Amino acid sequence: MSGLRGSAILGVGAYRPSRVVGNDEICARIDSSDEWIRKRSGIVSRRFADDGETIVGMAAEATRKAVAQSGTHPRDVDAVVLASMSILEQSPPSAPRVATLIGARNAAGLDLNAACSGFCYGLAVADSMVRSGQVDRVVVVGSERMSDIVDPDDRGTAFLFGDGAGAVVVGPAENRGIGPVVWGSDGERHEMIAHDGAWRHGGAWPYMRMAGPEVFRWATRLVPETATRALAAAGVRADDLGAFIPHQANLRIVEAAARALGLGPRTVVARDVVHAGNTSAASIPLAMDDLLSRGAVAAGESALLVGFGAGLTYAAQVVTLP
Ligand SMILES: CC(C)(COP(=O)(O)OP(=O)(O)OC[C@H]1O[C@@H](n2cnc3c(N)ncnc32)[C@H](O)[C@@H]1OP(=O)(O)O)[C@@H](O)C(=O)NCCC(=O)NCCS
Repeated sequence: MSGLRGSAILGVGAYRPSRVVGNDEICARIDSSDEWIRKRSGIVSRRFADDGETIVGMAAEATRKAVAQSGTHPRDVDAVVLASMSILEQSPPSAPRVATLIGARNAAGLDLNAACSGFCYGLAVADSMVRSGQVDRVVVVGSERMSDIVDPDDRGTAFLFGDGAGAVVVGPAENRGIGPVVWGSDGERHEMIAHDGAWRHGGAWPYMRMAGPEVFRWATRLVPETATRALAAAGVRADDLGAFIPHQANLRIVEAAARALGLGPRTVVARDVVHAGNTSAASIPLAMDDLLSRGAVAAGESALLVGFGAGLTYAAQVVTLP
């Protein structure tokens, strides 16, 4: 890719809904226990959005913080890429409202659905847009209300998911602060995480269902494999990483991947899933914001991101933290 300029993440921001939902509240609807949920998923609590905490509103809050941290004036934002799998309206797209709410009046706005890989897919799109010279500032924001599409009575999914939003601003840089993306999909296995019907007038609410153990086996193999390829593409060694920030699906998947990669003692592993649950496209920027804001990892360190989920989809890249 010689001849192109570099791009980098310039700022990060998060929005976490105020209502904390513990495992006991989840267990009021399913045959389970706090102990089982902690042991099998690592999750202690998650946030659920209330009626006023919309996908657009949460995305705008997270984006405002990322834009401010990046030192960008909102009117200089050229494009907003909104990654989400829980938007219930087909039309209009939601990204233009996020752009308007933050004051980026003439920005391009597009919605992107790559499920739990959505943030890494969006980052790859933003990186290409900026490096091509087409635009200077792109927001990538993941925002989810998984509580709208997860059945509270489904023992296989009810305890796993949560709501929230996380955003970054991508802009030009001398060097590549966003490494080459390693991504792909497998549509043959689309039924492993899928809605149990379509939204039809008068029909039953089509909740998202998941073949949990199959997804678990796929993820524990795929994450280290894809991560290793992304490290090689970026020319970074696993033990040089400042942070490992995989999609926060299940703490057991995070720990298994960290072990398989042979991370060194200096690499901080994101474990935001413990108090956020799986927030799909929002999970990586939420976890990144958490690590940076509490000083667990320093700006300028490299971090390995890996998204994976429904589709099936996956994507990974190494980034320099803002
Ligand atoms: C969902 C998940 C936590 C289930 O954990 P698991 O260890 O695979 O559990 P299993 O489904 O094999 O069930 C094991 C046992 O627990 C029971 N069980 C299942 N769900 C339960 C629940 N919510 N509470 C208590 N027991 C439960 C099962 O009935 C089974 O009992 P048995 O051994 O008597 O037959 C795990 O499969 C997972 O994390 N999958 C990947 C999820 C994911 O990452 N999804 C998003 C991708 S983006």
